[in-house]
Amino acid sequence: MKIGIFGLGQMGSAMIHGYLRTNTLSPADVLVKGGRSQTAKKVSDSLGLTLIDNLTELAEASLILIATNPASVLSVLESLPEEVTANRIPIVSVAGGVSLDKMGAVLGADYPLAHSIPNTAVEVNQGVLGIAYAEKISADAKKTISELLTPLGRLFETQEDTLGVIGSVGGSAPAFVDVFIEALSDAAVLYGIDRKSSYQIVEQMIKGSAELALETGKHPAELKDGVTSPGGTTIKGIAALEANGFRHAVIEAVKQTMS
Ligand SMILES: NC(=O)c1ccc[n+]([C@@H]2O[C@H](COP(=O)([O-])OP(=O)(O)OC[C@H]3O[C@@H](n4cnc5c(N)ncnc54)[C@H](OP(=O)(O)O)[C@@H]3O)[C@@H](O)[C@H]2O)c1
Repeated sequence: MKIGIFGLGQMGSAMIHGYLRTNTLSPADVLVKGGRSQTAKKVSDSLGLTLIDNLTELAEASLILIATNPASVLSVLESLPEEVTANRIPIVSVAGGVSLDKMGAVLGADYPLAHSIPNTAVEVNQGVLGIAYAEKISADAKKTISELLTPLGRLFETQEDTLGVIGSVGGSAPAFVDVFIEALSDAAVLYGIDRKSSYQIVEQMIKGSAELALETGKHPAELKDGVTSPGGTTIKGIAALEANGFRHAVIEAVKQTMS
Protein backbone atom coordinates (compact mmCIF):
# COMPACT_ATOMS: atom_id res chain seq x y z
CA MET A 1 0.00 0.00 0.00
CA LYS A 2 1.15 3.55 -0.77
CA ILE A 3 0.08 6.88 0.66
CA GLY A 4 0.70 10.21 -1.02
CA ILE A 5 1.23 13.36 1.02
CA PHE A 6 1.51 17.05 0.23
CA GLY A 7 3.36 18.96 2.96
CA LEU A 8 5.76 17.51 5.49
CA GLY A 9 5.67 20.26 8.09
CA GLN A 10 4.76 19.66 11.71
CA MET A 11 1.48 17.80 11.10
CA GLY A 12 2.48 15.96 7.91
CA SER A 13 5.65 14.67 9.57
CA ALA A 14 3.77 13.65 12.72
CA MET A 15 1.33 11.58 10.62
CA ILE A 16 4.10 9.89 8.65
CA HIS A 17 6.04 9.10 11.83
CA GLY A 18 2.86 7.44 13.12
CA TYR A 19 2.60 5.23 10.02
CA LEU A 20 6.27 4.28 10.09
CA ARG A 21 6.35 3.64 13.84
CA THR A 22 3.76 0.87 13.50
CA ASN A 23 5.17 -0.42 10.18
CA THR A 24 1.80 0.33 8.58
CA LEU A 25 3.84 1.73 5.71
CA SER A 26 7.41 1.21 4.69
CA PRO A 27 9.27 4.49 4.10
CA ALA A 28 9.53 3.98 0.31
CA ASP A 29 5.73 3.64 0.12
CA VAL A 30 5.23 7.19 1.32
CA LEU A 31 5.06 9.41 -1.78
CA VAL A 32 5.89 12.98 -0.82
CA LYS A 33 5.28 16.19 -2.71
CA GLY A 34 7.02 19.05 -0.98
CA GLY A 35 6.55 22.79 -1.10
CA ARG A 36 8.90 25.61 -2.00
CA SER A 37 11.53 25.11 0.68
CA GLN A 38 13.75 22.10 1.32
CA THR A 39 11.70 20.90 4.32
CA ALA A 40 10.05 17.94 2.59
CA LYS A 41 13.32 16.90 0.95
CA LYS A 42 15.19 16.98 4.26
CA VAL A 43 12.53 14.93 6.07
CA SER A 44 12.18 12.51 3.13
CA ASP A 45 15.94 11.98 2.91
CA SER A 46 16.26 11.36 6.64
CA LEU A 47 13.37 8.86 6.74
CA GLY A 48 13.90 7.23 3.31
CA LEU A 49 10.55 8.45 1.90
CA THR A 50 9.97 8.75 -1.85
CA LEU A 51 10.05 12.37 -2.95
CA ILE A 52 8.09 12.77 -6.19
CA ASP A 53 8.20 15.40 -8.90
CA ASN A 54 5.72 13.93 -11.29
CA LEU A 55 2.25 13.93 -9.71
CA THR A 56 1.10 11.04 -11.92
CA GLU A 57 3.09 8.81 -9.50
CA LEU A 58 0.25 9.42 -7.03
CA ALA A 59 -1.98 7.25 -9.21
CA GLU A 60 -0.58 4.24 -7.31
CA ALA A 61 -1.61 5.62 -3.90
CA SER A 62 -4.50 4.24 -1.83
CA LEU A 63 -4.94 7.59 -0.07
CA ILE A 64 -3.72 11.17 -0.56
CA LEU A 65 -3.17 13.37 2.47
CA ILE A 66 -3.02 17.14 2.18
CA ALA A 67 -1.09 18.63 5.08
CA THR A 68 -0.10 21.95 3.57
CA ASN A 69 -0.94 25.41 4.83
CA PRO A 70 -4.65 26.12 4.24
CA ALA A 71 -3.82 28.68 1.51
CA SER A 72 -2.31 25.94 -0.67
CA VAL A 73 -5.04 23.31 -0.46
CA LEU A 74 -7.18 24.32 -3.43
CA SER A 75 -4.20 24.83 -5.72
CA VAL A 76 -2.90 21.39 -4.70
CA LEU A 77 -6.26 19.87 -5.69
CA GLU A 78 -6.22 21.79 -8.97
CA SER A 79 -2.73 20.43 -9.70
CA LEU A 80 -3.79 16.77 -9.50
CA PRO A 81 -3.56 15.14 -12.91
CA GLU A 82 -6.37 13.22 -14.58
CA GLU A 83 -4.49 9.92 -13.98
CA VAL A 84 -4.97 10.46 -10.24
CA THR A 85 -8.46 11.90 -10.04
CA ALA A 86 -9.87 9.39 -12.55
CA ASN A 87 -8.86 6.62 -10.09
CA ARG A 88 -11.04 8.30 -7.44
CA ILE A 89 -8.25 7.99 -4.89
CA PRO A 90 -9.68 9.21 -1.57
CA ILE A 91 -8.26 12.54 -0.41
CA VAL A 92 -8.09 13.76 3.19
CA SER A 93 -7.19 17.35 3.96
CA VAL A 94 -6.09 18.20 7.49
CA ALA A 95 -6.00 21.93 6.79
CA GLY A 96 -8.08 24.12 9.05
CA GLY A 97 -10.63 26.39 7.40
CA VAL A 98 -10.81 24.84 3.92
CA SER A 99 -14.27 23.33 3.68
CA LEU A 100 -15.42 20.21 1.90
CA ASP A 101 -17.64 22.43 -0.26
CA LYS A 102 -14.62 24.41 -1.45
CA MET A 103 -12.66 21.22 -2.13
CA GLY A 104 -15.67 19.63 -3.83
CA ALA A 105 -15.96 22.68 -6.07
CA VAL A 106 -12.55 21.75 -7.50
CA LEU A 107 -12.90 17.96 -7.76
CA GLY A 108 -16.66 17.51 -7.96
CA ALA A 109 -19.18 17.19 -5.15
CA ASP A 110 -19.16 13.39 -5.46
CA TYR A 111 -15.35 13.03 -5.18
CA PRO A 112 -14.32 10.91 -2.12
CA LEU A 113 -13.13 13.68 0.17
CA ALA A 114 -12.73 14.06 3.91
CA HIS A 115 -11.73 16.92 6.16
CA SER A 116 -9.90 15.92 9.31
CA ILE A 117 -8.42 17.87 12.21
CA PRO A 118 -5.87 15.62 13.92
CA ASN A 119 -3.71 16.45 16.91
CA THR A 120 0.02 15.89 17.04
CA ALA A 121 -0.35 12.71 19.14
CA VAL A 122 -0.80 10.96 15.75
CA GLU A 123 2.99 10.77 15.91
CA VAL A 124 2.69 8.14 18.65
CA ASN A 125 -0.52 6.57 17.25
CA GLN A 126 -2.60 8.09 20.03
CA GLY A 127 -4.13 10.90 18.04
CA VAL A 128 -7.58 12.42 18.24
CA LEU A 129 -8.80 12.87 14.67
CA GLY A 130 -12.06 14.73 14.17
CA ILE A 131 -13.31 13.83 10.70
CA ALA A 132 -16.11 14.99 8.40
CA TYR A 133 -16.86 13.32 5.09
CA ALA A 134 -18.18 14.79 1.86
CA GLU A 135 -21.93 14.47 1.74
CA LYS A 136 -21.98 12.23 -1.33
CA ILE A 137 -19.10 9.96 -0.35
CA SER A 138 -19.74 6.24 -0.82
CA ALA A 139 -19.77 3.86 2.13
CA ASP A 140 -16.76 2.05 0.61
CA ALA A 141 -14.65 5.21 0.29
CA LYS A 142 -15.56 6.22 3.83
CA LYS A 143 -14.47 2.79 5.08
CA THR A 144 -11.18 3.02 3.17
CA ILE A 145 -10.39 6.44 4.63
CA SER A 146 -11.32 5.42 8.14
CA GLU A 147 -9.23 2.22 7.95
CA LEU A 148 -6.23 4.10 6.58
CA LEU A 149 -6.36 6.78 9.27
CA THR A 150 -7.05 4.46 12.21
CA PRO A 151 -3.35 3.51 12.74
CA LEU A 152 -2.81 7.15 13.75
CA GLY A 153 -5.33 7.23 16.58
CA ARG A 154 -9.03 7.36 17.26
CA LEU A 155 -11.41 8.88 14.72
CA PHE A 156 -14.42 10.93 15.78
CA GLU A 157 -16.84 11.46 12.93
CA THR A 158 -18.71 14.71 13.07
CA GLN A 159 -20.35 17.39 10.94
CA GLU A 160 -17.84 19.84 9.51
CA ASP A 161 -19.14 22.74 11.62
CA THR A 162 -18.06 20.96 14.83
CA LEU A 163 -14.60 19.95 13.59
CA GLY A 164 -13.24 23.17 15.12
CA VAL A 165 -14.23 22.30 18.65
CA ILE A 166 -12.69 18.83 18.29
CA GLY A 167 -9.59 20.66 17.10
CA SER A 168 -9.70 22.75 20.28
CA VAL A 169 -10.45 20.02 22.79
CA GLY A 170 -8.25 17.48 20.96
CA GLY A 171 -5.58 19.75 19.54
CA SER A 172 -5.20 22.81 21.80
CA ALA A 173 -6.06 21.16 25.09
CA PRO A 174 -2.86 19.04 25.10
CA ALA A 175 -1.09 22.36 25.76
CA PHE A 176 -3.46 22.95 28.69
CA VAL A 177 -2.56 19.49 29.98
CA ASP A 178 1.13 20.35 29.58
CA VAL A 179 0.60 23.42 31.78
CA PHE A 180 -1.26 21.21 34.29
CA ILE A 181 1.68 18.76 34.27
CA GLU A 182 4.09 21.61 34.95
CA ALA A 183 1.93 22.98 37.76
CA LEU A 184 1.63 19.57 39.45
CA SER A 185 5.35 19.03 39.01
CA ASP A 186 6.03 22.40 40.70
CA ALA A 187 3.83 21.35 43.60
CA ALA A 188 5.67 18.02 43.91
CA VAL A 189 9.03 19.81 43.87
CA LEU A 190 7.73 22.20 46.55
CA TYR A 191 7.23 19.15 48.76
CA GLY A 192 10.68 17.71 48.11
CA ILE A 193 10.44 15.48 44.99
CA ASP A 194 13.23 16.01 42.45
CA ARG A 195 12.16 17.62 39.18
CA LYS A 196 12.76 14.65 36.88
CA SER A 197 10.84 12.25 39.10
CA SER A 198 8.04 14.77 39.52
CA TYR A 199 7.43 14.87 35.75
CA GLN A 200 7.55 11.08 35.49
CA ILE A 201 5.07 10.68 38.37
CA VAL A 202 2.64 13.26 36.97
CA GLU A 203 2.84 12.02 33.36
CA GLN A 204 2.26 8.41 34.44
CA MET A 205 -0.64 9.55 36.64
CA ILE A 206 -2.32 11.34 33.69
CA LYS A 207 -1.73 8.39 31.35
CA GLY A 208 -3.10 5.97 33.94
CA SER A 209 -6.14 8.15 34.70
CA ALA A 210 -7.00 8.37 30.99
CA GLU A 211 -6.53 4.62 30.48
CA LEU A 212 -8.63 3.81 33.53
CA ALA A 213 -11.46 6.00 32.23
CA LEU A 214 -11.20 4.56 28.71
CA GLU A 215 -10.93 0.92 29.75
CA THR A 216 -13.60 0.89 32.44
CA GLY A 217 -15.94 3.29 30.62
CA LYS A 218 -16.78 4.73 34.03
CA HIS A 219 -18.12 8.26 34.27
CA PRO A 220 -15.41 10.70 35.47
CA ALA A 221 -17.58 11.61 38.47
CA GLU A 222 -17.70 7.94 39.49
CA LEU A 223 -13.91 7.68 39.29
CA LYS A 224 -13.56 10.88 41.30
CA ASP A 225 -16.08 9.68 43.91
CA GLY A 226 -14.07 6.48 44.25
CA VAL A 227 -11.02 8.38 45.53
CA THR A 228 -12.71 10.99 47.70
CA SER A 229 -13.36 9.78 51.22
CA PRO A 230 -15.58 11.91 53.53
CA GLY A 231 -13.59 14.79 54.99
CA GLY A 232 -10.48 13.41 53.28
CA THR A 233 -7.55 15.12 51.62
CA THR A 234 -8.65 14.54 48.00
CA ILE A 235 -12.04 16.20 48.42
CA LYS A 236 -10.26 19.12 50.11
CA GLY A 237 -8.04 19.39 47.04
CA ILE A 238 -11.07 19.34 44.72
CA ALA A 239 -12.80 22.00 46.82
CA ALA A 240 -9.70 24.16 46.47
CA LEU A 241 -9.68 23.68 42.68
CA GLU A 242 -13.35 24.64 42.45
CA ALA A 243 -12.86 27.64 44.77
CA ASN A 244 -10.25 28.84 42.31
CA GLY A 245 -12.56 28.45 39.32
CA PHE A 246 -10.96 25.34 37.81
CA ARG A 247 -13.91 24.28 35.61
CA HIS A 248 -14.68 27.86 34.63
CA ALA A 249 -11.03 28.43 33.69
CA VAL A 250 -11.01 25.30 31.51
CA ILE A 251 -14.25 26.22 29.70
CA GLU A 252 -13.04 29.80 29.20
CA ALA A 253 -9.76 28.48 27.79
CA VAL A 254 -11.64 26.38 25.21
CA LYS A 255 -13.84 29.39 24.37
CA GLN A 256 -10.71 31.42 23.67
CA THR A 257 -9.38 28.77 21.27
CA MET A 258 -12.70 28.95 19.40
CA SER A 259 -12.68 32.74 19.05
N1 LIG B 1 0.19 21.61 13.61
C1 LIG B 1 -0.95 21.19 14.13
O1 LIG B 1 -1.05 20.89 15.34
C2 LIG B 1 -2.16 21.05 13.25
C3 LIG B 1 -3.33 20.48 13.80
C4 LIG B 1 -4.43 20.26 12.97
C5 LIG B 1 -4.38 20.67 11.63
N2 LIG B 1 -3.24 21.27 11.16
C6 LIG B 1 -3.24 21.69 9.76
O2 LIG B 1 -2.18 21.01 9.10
C7 LIG B 1 -1.68 21.83 8.06
C8 LIG B 1 -0.18 21.88 8.19
O3 LIG B 1 0.13 22.46 9.45
P1 LIG B 1 1.61 22.41 10.01
O4 LIG B 1 1.56 22.84 11.42
O5 LIG B 1 2.23 21.11 9.65
O6 LIG B 1 2.26 23.57 9.12
P2 LIG B 1 3.77 23.70 8.62
O7 LIG B 1 4.68 23.12 9.62
O8 LIG B 1 3.91 25.12 8.20
O9 LIG B 1 3.81 22.77 7.33
C9 LIG B 1 3.13 23.05 6.16
C10 LIG B 1 3.95 22.45 5.06
O10 LIG B 1 3.21 22.51 3.85
C11 LIG B 1 4.11 22.66 2.80
N3 LIG B 1 3.45 23.18 1.62
C12 LIG B 1 2.87 24.40 1.44
N4 LIG B 1 2.36 24.50 0.20
C13 LIG B 1 2.62 23.32 -0.42
C14 LIG B 1 2.34 22.81 -1.70
N5 LIG B 1 1.68 23.53 -2.61
N6 LIG B 1 2.74 21.56 -2.00
C15 LIG B 1 3.38 20.80 -1.09
N7 LIG B 1 3.69 21.23 0.15
C16 LIG B 1 3.31 22.48 0.48
C17 LIG B 1 5.15 23.62 3.35
O11 LIG B 1 6.35 23.41 2.67
P3 LIG B 1 7.30 24.65 2.24
O12 LIG B 1 7.55 25.42 3.47
O13 LIG B 1 8.47 23.92 1.70
O14 LIG B 1 6.54 25.43 1.19
C18 LIG B 1 5.25 23.19 4.82
O15 LIG B 1 6.34 22.31 5.04
C19 LIG B 1 -2.32 23.20 8.19
O16 LIG B 1 -3.28 23.36 7.18
C20 LIG B 1 -2.98 23.18 9.56
O17 LIG B 1 -4.20 23.89 9.55
C21 LIG B 1 -2.14 21.45 11.92
